[in-house]
Amino acid sequence: MKTLIIGANGQIGTELTRKLREKYGLAQVITTDIRESRIDDPYFYQLDATDKEAIEKIIAEEGIEEVYLMAAILSAKAEQFPLRAWQINMNVVFNLLEIARSGKIRKLFWPSSIAVFGPHTPKKNTPQFTVTDPDTVYGISKLAGERWSEYYYEKYGVDVRSIRYPGIISWKTLPGGGTTDYAVEMFHYALRGEKYVCYIAPDERLPMMYIDDAIQATVDIMDAPAESIRIRSSYNLAAFSLTPQELAGGIKRYIPGFHVEFKPDYRQKIAATWPDSIDDTAARKDWNWKPLFNLDEMIRQMLVNLSEHQYPEIELTF
Ligand code: SER
Repeated sequence: MKTLIIGANGQIGTELTRKLREKYGLAQVITTDIRESRIDDPYFYQLDATDKEAIEKIIAEEGIEEVYLMAAILSAKAEQFPLRAWQINMNVVFNLLEIARSGKIRKLFWPSSIAVFGPHTPKKNTPQFTVTDPDTVYGISKLAGERWSEYYYEKYGVDVRSIRYPGIISWKTLPGGGTTDYAVEMFHYALRGEKYVCYIAPDERLPMMYIDDAIQATVDIMDAPAESIRIRSSYNLAAFSLTPQELAGGIKRYIPGFHVEFKPDYRQKIAATWPDSIDDTAARKDWNWKPLFNLDEMIRQMLVNLSEHQYPEIELTF
């Protein structure tokens, strides 16, 4: 079975590539990204995810059956050029839904986000089905993508599967252009012994998840039998929630000198419209989702991995 990952060099794409290659073998997982590959990858194509023809060509020539569409302009960056971000985010998903509708691929994974929620969404334990009134371009595009995914499933039987990722915390690849990026940045500043100026308010609570759980969920939802995927828009997914202050406190347990200053900017306004915590009962019930990493374990994993692989000069005691 051959798989294509579009946006394979991003925060989630890099780890998904590694995981799927472990599972299916190197040559079975074809990768693309708009940026050059950072590793020597003989199965990599550099292309723009909106280039439908190029993607169709790869699918045909490589005999691709499943696609993971990880390319998107994230929430903060999308606010800087709204129309272009809308076009990119929507075009990529439409192109892939159309490719799936024509029967050229068998299955499509496309991530949605907590950004589909908005100022009138209940903030605590946000239900699967609730008010969705996003006021960011990114959120609007994810919500529209969810509606179209369900439409393509209902009308054309397209096997599309999706998760509403919370903020993803990872050590291998940095996120870029997101509102939740601060959580990853904090670790790097702490390890470099630098002060971090946080653009989110100290008590702004957001749902987050360690990368390994996000990858496991992605693989699990794609592996589940089609009949158990009863939601074809996108599944709520949760692990833990945190505020910048709590995260800074958790890091300080290992790096006591770490100092954070708060200067909230436009991204705080985005964060304020997103949930504090998420009800993911449907994902747990339908395809047995269960996170393995809580807040403390995530902090430990981040510091262990970053100090071992990226900051070898730092010695921490765990
Ligand atoms: N992590 C994303 C962002 O902050 C949310 O999906 O934009």
